Amino acid sequence: MVSIFNTYDALSDFAAQEIINTVQQNPKAVLCLAAGDTPRLAYKKMVALAHKNHLSFFGVTFIGLDEWVGIGPAIEGSCYHFLNELIFKPLSIKEEAIFFFNGMAANLQAECKRIDATIKELGPIDLTLVGIGINGHIGFNEPGIDPELGAHIVALDAVTANVGQKYFREKKQLTQGISLGMAQIMASGKVVLVANGLKKAAIISETMQGNISNAVPASFIRNHPNGMILLDKEAAAEL
Ligand code: PGA
Repeated sequence: MVSIFNTYDALSDFAAQEIINTVQQNPKAVLCLAAGDTPRLAYKKMVALAHKNHLSFFGVTFIGLDEWVGIGPAIEGSCYHFLNELIFKPLSIKEEAIFFFNGMAANLQAECKRIDATIKELGPIDLTLVGIGINGHIGFNEPGIDPELGAHIVALDAVTANVGQKYFREKKQLTQGISLGMAQIMASGKVVLVANGLKKAAIISETMQGNISNAVPASFIRNHPNGMILLDKEAAAEL
């Protein structure tokens, strides 16, 4: 399903409500919410709605979508830091309910195994909410990815490494990432992709109108029975 909204604000309202609905329907929901600029407003609205409706997140589990290798959780710009500030702190989520990749782990393979095991035990994920890279990536599932993979270590695409600098105050060496695999994302009960702005228009056109293939990992969402693609008018400009 594709929905096109007049404004980023309206898109964010809808995405926020999707998260709230998921938790209202299942107070023990497992959520995987991406970091990134696109969902930022949706998360603020979601937290405000949760507070307004006195909705408890006590039983909810959060699984990390991805993380920059070599960037610790305390660093502004890490995926953990982003979600901690926007969601975990404001909703008083306990550490035990948060399963994120540690980008500083000495053994990254063990990190992948730990998250794979967590999803096996607590999953499947009920709702995954993702943005889209201008190269079509989802999480750090870069173009060419094997869609059958679970959690894995990624050599970052040059586009991702370049664009990713925007999250950090100082220049960072971004060469590797660690990410849930497409198989885990596709096994989620619902997958919501959000995109706004003209800079996403070309890749949204490829995602929606091109072949469904690993050349544009986001295109796989078209095959998801509960896949939702939420766009503002600008992101939808080339459809
Ligand atoms: P953005 O990132 O929301 O900051 O544009 C999207 C992504 O790269 O997945």
